[in-house]
Amino acid sequence: MGTSRPRGRFAGRTELEPASHDELPGGAEQYSHREVNKQSWLRSFGRRKGRKLSESQSSLLSDDLERLKIDLSARVDAGRLAQIFSSPVDDVWLEIGFGAGEHLIWQAEHNPRVGLIGAEPYINGVVSTLAAARERDLEDRLRIHPEDAIPLLDWLPAASLARAFMLFPDPWPKTRHRTRRLFSPFLLDKLSRVLSPGAEFRFASDIASYVDAAIGHAEAHPAFGIVQVFTSKDRATVPDWPATRYEAKAVRAGRSATFLVMKRKAGPLPGPEG
Ligand SMILES: C[S@@+](CC[C@H](N)C(=O)[O-])C[C@H]1O[C@@H](n2cnc3c(N)ncnc32)[C@H](O)[C@@H]1O
Repeated sequence: MGTSRPRGRFAGRTELEPASHDELPGGAEQYSHREVNKQSWLRSFGRRKGRKLSESQSSLLSDDLERLKIDLSARVDAGRLAQIFSSPVDDVWLEIGFGAGEHLIWQAEHNPRVGLIGAEPYINGVVSTLAAARERDLEDRLRIHPEDAIPLLDWLPAASLARAFMLFPDPWPKTRHRTRRLFSPFLLDKLSRVLSPGAEFRFASDIASYVDAAIGHAEAHPAFGIVQVFTSKDRATVPDWPATRYEAKAVRAGRSATFLVMKRKAGPLPGPEG
């Protein structure tokens, strides 16, 4: 087991203390933006395919994914996002980069009045999630975007999400790759439009430099405030936050993780469409 103390510049801190961008390792500019121009951005994910799919897995893609996939060419009006689900839901939550889907499925199972949207370009992970959703009869409250989350964020109506998750995003540990990291001011801008005031955004990582950068970005963003920071040691303090596959792998390798809970502040939404 690794240490459960916060790492990097948060060593010794249990609650969040304000940090300035100057404290970010290597300076803030290396994490400053991943948008390349208004139409494109750096790819933040690795491979899209793993092991060859079996026949039954392929049929999950052709049958279930076809039914559950979000059609980004069909516009949804503000206040009507819940209607993309075939069961009534009070709130809609989003998980970006759900991997094999264990957290997404857990949240769907434990929150029967919530509709879950998951974005994940790794097709083997999408298949595992579809199989679990079918087995547990959760398909009515699950919708999948089997691609990069950014176009999905642009498609979602303003203030339509009550919660979002991004758990253990690809770490991109090499300095020259850090602009590929998904958690960035660019992403926070996109999320600030689609999260409703007061909505939670949960993030976790086992990479100290990523955690430090994420905290710096969240503190610097006018639409977000950080409400909680804890490490693996205090994992049980948030019982509705189950471990993911990647988290289990990090723990086995002796790495501690840091968990952030951010809130979308109340106030006008940025941008002309706000
Ligand atoms: C390290 S894995 C973690 C998966 C899972 N959240 C977990 O904790 O086990 C990161 C995942 O994020 C996905 N990902 C990376 N960039 C993404 C993007 N732009 N949109 C959606 N998913 C993305 C990757 O395909 C990968 O499955």
